[in-house]
Amino acid sequence: MKERLQQLQQEALEKIEQANDLKALNDVRVAYLGKKGPITEVLRGMGALSPEERPLMGALVNDVREAIQRALEAKQATLEQEEVEKKLASEAIDVTLPGRPIRRGNHHPLTRVIEEIEDLFIGMGYTIAEGPEVEKDYYNFEALNLPKGHPARDMQDSFYITEEILLRTHTSPVQARTMEKHQGRGPVKIICPGKVYRRDNDDATHSHQFTQIEGLVVDENIRMSDLKGTLREFARKMFGEDRDIRFRPSFFPFTEPSVEVDVSCFNCGGHGCNVCKGTGWIEILGAGMVHPNVLEMAGFDSKKYTGFAFGMGPERIAMLKYGIDDIRHFYQNDVRFLQQFHRV
Ligand code: PHE
Repeated sequence: MKERLQQLQQEALEKIEQANDLKALNDVRVAYLGKKGPITEVLRGMGALSPEERPLMGALVNDVREAIQRALEAKQATLEQEEVEKKLASEAIDVTLPGRPIRRGNHHPLTRVIEEIEDLFIGMGYTIAEGPEVEKDYYNFEALNLPKGHPARDMQDSFYITEEILLRTHTSPVQARTMEKHQGRGPVKIICPGKVYRRDNDDATHSHQFTQIEGLVVDENIRMSDLKGTLREFARKMFGEDRDIRFRPSFFPFTEPSVEVDVSCFNCGGHGCNVCKGTGWIEILGAGMVHPNVLEMAGFDSKKYTGFAFGMGPERIAMLKYGIDDIRHFYQNDVRFLQQFHRV
């Protein structure tokens, strides 16, 4: 019996030594110390021993059990330690590796110009108004003093959806809609940024879809000098503090008088260069005093109220400001173009 026990201990210690993970170790534990294990069996056989032998054998069984138990614990600690080390090694972070570059996006140059213009006018007390891109003929033309058959409709080739509905050709219908909402009571002071559509063949300076920003002020005693001061402020903010503007007579059915507005050339300061084609001036927008018919149609008393309006193309402003030579760049989404407008 003694030999049997010593042999069991020897065997168990060897198996413990060989166990190379916690599960295998537990199997050894169950096999040798479990209820159905060989040691329990030895204990059961003790009944056959003489009373003198029994305590000696009992002590020996305990010694063997304890030896196996200690070996198990020691091995368990080693295995656990190994596992922790393995985990640490696999999760190690090499802090000396160079970081991955973060690709940062940026605002589209057109968005930037539009936001810049919005900020400028918001700073002057304007609010932003919006209107539908699919518009009624009434607001796009008729309410702007362009009745059906008016020759000036030819100035804006239109995408008609039905006889009465079209894609708006300019942001001016928002003027008419906003005035109508005010029900004859001023003041009105809005800008309206948005997309517009015209039946144009796309080339470097024409696009079937582009953006405009409309401005409208209606109140008592609004004069052309107010328009001029406002636009001069705008031109200086966008193109530099030394800029001046000039008005040239023009025609829009919804304004009277109507003007084209030029800014003094920011490239040559007005002496004449290739940017301003030698004239010293660059055309930037159309404007005028709101036509009395337009005021009346929207419910305003044109004896009491006057107003000014202007309409500009942010693409054109952006092209001038950043020296962009082709309007199609705005829509082609070539990242080599767009990345040049990273804000620093
Ligand atoms: N709506 C005109 C256009 O698209 C621009 C404009 C707006 C002119 C307001 C005068 C007043 O050409």
